[in-house]
Amino acid sequence: MNQFIRPVQITPEAHLIQSFWKEHDAPVGVHVNTMVLASRQPVVFDTGVPADRDGWLQAVSSVVDPADVRWIVLSHDDHDHVGNLSAAMQWFPNATVVASWWITERLVGSIELDPRRMRWVVSGDTLDIGDRTLVFQRPPIFDSPTTRTVFDPSTGLLWAGDLGAALGPHPVVHAEEMPADELAASFVVAHGWISPWIAMVDDTKYQLAVDRIADLGITTWAQTHGPVYEGAYINRAIDLLRTVPAAGETQQPGQADLEAIITSTLLSA
Ligand SMILES: [Fe+2]
Ligand SMILES: [Fe+2]
Repeated sequence: MNQFIRPVQITPEAHLIQSFWKEHDAPVGVHVNTMVLASRQPVVFDTGVPADRDGWLQAVSSVVDPADVRWIVLSHDDHDHVGNLSAAMQWFPNATVVASWWITERLVGSIELDPRRMRWVVSGDTLDIGDRTLVFQRPPIFDSPTTRTVFDPSTGLLWAGDLGAALGPHPVVHAEEMPADELAASFVVAHGWISPWIAMVDDTKYQLAVDRIADLGITTWAQTHGPVYEGAYINRAIDLLRTVPAAGETQQPGQADLEAIITSTLLSA
């Protein structure tokens, strides 16, 4: 498994903590990005995976003093978003975890969360972080019922969690680094995998949910599993999002694919 992690500045205030994982011979890899916002009360968005722990803490600490981190905002409770949460609570002693009752319940027995160091925020809520107010909203596609995107109306920055995922063969920061056809195909397939129920939804209601994202006024759409969308790529991503229900669920790799992976791994060992 090849992996790297590094901070990349994506706005005057925000750093993407870019992490990319890929099996040696695999055709595609996956990003497990997080983000740091240097607002007056600095915010860390999601916490990555445990195997990244030292590198992640170092990367975050290279762009913000750990003692200054005031908020750890979780997009949802999937392992690749809460993997370093316990370590982060220790590493950032002055941080409050922006979670929810449902996140807390779903993590029971796995991650202990101090009630005194939490804020519970649901879709539609806002959070005053001193120099701006963050807006939380359930996206139209999600793989956990706890999912909220986080929007900063003062700058147009969106932390979208899984929304916007697109797998590819190489690490990328910006959407223009991926061939347009590769990005489109990967985006639609990935969102079908994230929400295999999407083909069952009422398309009119779904499009209204996409409208709520489209109407935010996003200038920078950063996320966990793919590139940052800016400029024309934001509308392109919105357009792709609108097509996901019609595309339906793409079949996931199965046993034959697993056996092919094992064989190729043995041959290359
Ligand atoms: Fe997820
Ligand atoms: Fe994820």
